[in-house]
Amino acid sequence: MHSSAQRMDRISTHFFAEQREKVRRLKEAGKDVICLDIGSPDMPPPQHIIDSLCQSANTPEVHGYQAHNATENLRKAWADMYLREFGIRLDPNTQVLPLLGSKEGIFHLVQALVDPGDVVLLPDPYYPTYLKSVLFAGGEPYFMPLLSDNDFLPDLTLIPTEIANRAKILWINYPNNPTAASAPLSFYQEVIQFAQKYNLLVCHDAAYAQIYFDGHKPISLLQIPGAEDVGIEFNSLSKSHNMAGWRTGVAVGNEKVVQTLLSLKTNTDSGHFLPILHAATTALTHDQSWRAGRNEIYGARRDGVVQRLEEMGLEARTPTGSFFVWVKVPQGQSATQFADKLLESCHVSLAPGTVFGQSGEGYCRIALIQSEARLVEAMDRLAKIKAGKSRP
Ligand SMILES: Cc1ncc(COP(=O)(O)O)c(C=O)c1O
Repeated sequence: MHSSAQRMDRISTHFFAEQREKVRRLKEAGKDVICLDIGSPDMPPPQHIIDSLCQSANTPEVHGYQAHNATENLRKAWADMYLREFGIRLDPNTQVLPLLGSKEGIFHLVQALVDPGDVVLLPDPYYPTYLKSVLFAGGEPYFMPLLSDNDFLPDLTLIPTEIANRAKILWINYPNNPTAASAPLSFYQEVIQFAQKYNLLVCHDAAYAQIYFDGHKPISLLQIPGAEDVGIEFNSLSKSHNMAGWRTGVAVGNEKVVQTLLSLKTNTDSGHFLPILHAATTALTHDQSWRAGRNEIYGARRDGVVQRLEEMGLEARTPTGSFFVWVKVPQGQSATQFADKLLESCHVSLAPGTVFGQSGEGYCRIALIQSEARLVEAMDRLAKIKAGKSRP
């Protein structure tokens, strides 16, 4: 009889897989659903990236397996990007590892480093893969609440010494998903000192580092002196270049950790499709000025949504990075109740904060991944619900 391994009991199906099914059923029933749940960019990548893929795919010799660490050109393109954007020098051959999307690397890194019983320090709320990977590896998660009072930064001074001593990894992620908070340089310095003191690895997930507003350029962990000894950073073209479906990310930083991840990957994948590697190289090496225009579009969406939420009396900060808005749900309702009500009665799909952990209770995440007109429509529907009318 078919039965799953016990470790499968520790990880349930991802919320978005279930939500996608609910949305599909509503759409099938003819409902006009506005999806602001999953963080998948609605805009396409620029034409030069698509052209690069097509040109490459039309070449006969690109269809075989590729090296597990992609191509030298792509590794160099990531290293050049880090130098250009953050002033950081990386050895493309040892400190840069392209991934099949950063999610893959995040999950696999934990499998490569965490033994049963090891503690992993996680922000709460968190990107769900941080937790699932730890549970799958048999590790012990320790949650660091991200609270509004502390600008959605973890308070490292609250971590008991006994836990810190047993911790193997500390995860951080700014601009943050789901709270949309950003972190100052001083926070990264504090994190590096903490990692040095307790001899643990810091993993910074910088998936949203290239989506920011009003000149608030996010910081790379690797900018902090000493970071390469104790840290690695995950990055991705999914959000930065509107390429979520292309599955192309990277791990950069500490050489030993990057090489451990590569060693695991030699057993789990057989490289990526070469035309995607070529297109990713084009994405990173081509003129980047288009991103400013794209960020302005997100910025205008953010302004419109935050203003409407304010008018409805719903509390939300104006984020300086990411394409999310983290909004407090009306008093007396749980995050799930609020999100379910919106989906059922006005067909707006948001992510309830509890999808991302206990500290997400009381919040919902709005992803700004629809046109301004659709966001206005979503806010109109929400306003009607808020005003007590059950149907838009
Ligand atoms: C914080 C964060 N990290 C990582 C990822 C994974 O991105 P990808 O695997 O597409 O690179 C996501 C995707 O939503 C994310 O929100």
